[in-house]
Amino acid sequence: MDHAGATAHRRREHGQFAGEFVRHPVRAGAVMETATDCAAGFLDEVCVAGARTVVELGAGSGAITAELAARLPESSRLLAVEVSPALTARLRDRCPDVDVACASAFDLPDLVRARDLPPVDLIVCSVPWTLMGEQRDRFLSTARATLTDGGTFSTLLVAHRARERGEAATWVGRHFSDVGAGRVLWGNLPPLRALHSSAA
Ligand SMILES: C[S@@+](CC[C@H](N)C(=O)[O-])C[C@H]1O[C@@H](n2cnc3c(N)ncnc32)[C@H](O)[C@@H]1O
Repeated sequence: MDHAGATAHRRREHGQFAGEFVRHPVRAGAVMETATDCAAGFLDEVCVAGARTVVELGAGSGAITAELAARLPESSRLLAVEVSPALTARLRDRCPDVDVACASAFDLPDLVRARDLPPVDLIVCSVPWTLMGEQRDRFLSTARATLTDGGTFSTLLVAHRARERGEAATWVGRHFSDVGAGRVLWGNLPPLRALHSSAA
C-alpha cells in the first residue's frame, strides 16, 4: 500500500473506532484505538516469557493485540476477547492468526473452558472497567478466577485513574496483590498508564 493509501486506511480505522465510541461511549472507553508506541510501551512492562496462555480483554481493533502476538513465544496461546462485533471484525482482519472471541469478558471462564486452554498466566486488559459501576468487582473477580495462582493482571487505564494507591489501584487490590503503576505513556490522547498486579 502506498503512503496515500495507508493514510486513507488509517482514517477509515479511526472513523470506525470513533463510530463505536459514539454508539457505546462508556463501553468503548476511548475515541481512538491506543497509539502504536503506547501499546508497545505498555507491553514493555509486561513479561510474556514462559506464559502458557495469555488473554487480552477488550482487544478492540487490535492495537495491543498485534503487538502482543508479535512478542509471544510460539509455545504460548493467545485469546483476544472483544465485545463489539464491528471491532471484532476489524481485529480478525488485522490479526488473522489470533484466536478472537466476540464475547463479553464476563464470559471468560466459559471461553477458556471451551477451548481447553493451558493455565492462564497473564491477562492484559484495556476494558474500561473503572466505568462499570457496581459491575467493577464482578469484572475483577472474573479475571482473578481465570488467572492461575502467581499469574499477572495488567490493566491499561487513562493515566489519571492509574495512580499508585489511587481509587483504581484500591479496587484492583481487593482481588490481586502487589499492585503497582507503570510509567505514564504520553504518546496517547489522553495519556495512559498501566496498573500491574499479581494473583497471589
Ligand atoms: C479503551 S478500548 C481499548 C481497545 C484496544 N485494546 C486498544 O487499546 O485500542 C476498550 C475496549 O474494550 C471493549 N469492551 C468493553 N467492555 C467489554 C467487555 N465487557 N468485554 C469485552 N470487551 C469489552 C470495548 O468494546 C473496547 O473495544
